[in-house]
Amino acid sequence: MSIRETFRGAVVCAALILGAGIAHAQEVVKLGLVGEFSGPFAQYGGQMYGGMKAYMKEHGDTVAGKKIEVIQRDTGGPAPDVAKRLAQELVTRDKVDLLVGFGLTPNAMAAAPIATEAKVPMIIMNAATSIITTKSPYIARVSFTLPQITQPIALWAAKNGIRNVYTIVSDYGPGIDAEGAFTKAFKTAGGEIAGSARIPLQNPEFAPYIQRAKDARPQAIFVFLPAGEQGIAFMKGYNERGLAEAGIKLIATGDITDDGVLEAMGDPTLGLVTSFHYSAAHDSPENKAFLKAYAEANGTKLRPNFMAVAGYDGMAAIYEALRKTGGSTDGDKIMAALKGMKINSPRGAITIDPETRDVVQTIYIRKVEKTPGGLYNIEFDRFPDQKDPGK
Ligand code: PHB
Repeated sequence: MSIRETFRGAVVCAALILGAGIAHAQEVVKLGLVGEFSGPFAQYGGQMYGGMKAYMKEHGDTVAGKKIEVIQRDTGGPAPDVAKRLAQELVTRDKVDLLVGFGLTPNAMAAAPIATEAKVPMIIMNAATSIITTKSPYIARVSFTLPQITQPIALWAAKNGIRNVYTIVSDYGPGIDAEGAFTKAFKTAGGEIAGSARIPLQNPEFAPYIQRAKDARPQAIFVFLPAGEQGIAFMKGYNERGLAEAGIKLIATGDITDDGVLEAMGDPTLGLVTSFHYSAAHDSPENKAFLKAYAEANGTKLRPNFMAVAGYDGMAAIYEALRKTGGSTDGDKIMAALKGMKINSPRGAITIDPETRDVVQTIYIRKVEKTPGGLYNIEFDRFPDQKDPGK
């Protein structure tokens, strides 16, 4: 081979390598996952990511010719400044195409302006304060809103002979939404509010609030607390102070009987009626496939909860959007693809409302029952096609 030929060969070779490099760079879609992976809310990130992994296990990591790559970042809990910085770094330094995750409302709210500025779609996999989706046209939410899940339990209570309720909520966005939605729907249905309390989000002390609620002698207490450890502590206090013995019923949104902690809460939860969009006991082929994929991807130690389902559905929405855009990650194109999208979720069919970019879905009324597989939220009534009532 002449020197000239060797040189030409090397050039071709270099061009091929370079070309392959460029082609490779174009073929990755990066998802910046901002979640709570440590501290008292660590289950949030774990469940969301677990659901995402389940989807990828089932459907592969390539869609529309692009490989999906997840870059994980931990806010360490409710930390808006950290969430905002992480979102900013993911967009500017890591060049992510979408932001996903966000378990807690303050973290989602703080990152919203980054999505707007960068025109990067932001898929909310939990944070459920109603107002969040109005904070950026690049936000779509695949989870739920507090007013959406609260109104059904208020109507159910009023229809089932409950006339007088004391409300206890966590003192931040979703709790204030829940208190407002419950009060409005319950009063409209003829009910009375005996009193209301708001408990701090961080390091809450439940006993004094539970005692005050007991002293007000309501027929029932309505509770919203962020899923996880707080529900366990609240149920302990409810038992220790003998509210059931005093004839005070408990009703709640399904955050409190979160599938991830229900077993740890134990028998005191038996009979507890809640309203929610997902139960691991939901009977459908989609849910069976989800439970199987979740166990395969994450092991069987943790039962998947509503955040895992939102992680799974969030990935379904992203895959479908990428198929529709032919693999383009242009923010406006992805948002257009998401609007009006229907997904056969493990919770039942859901639609991303094209106006609000929130999910329209069935809300179930459930009761905790003991089954051969342990404690589960068993669905027994439903409110189909529920939107956020305030939107
Ligand atoms: C929220 O911060 O928006 C949030 C967290 C946990 C829940 C529901 C809402 O269970």
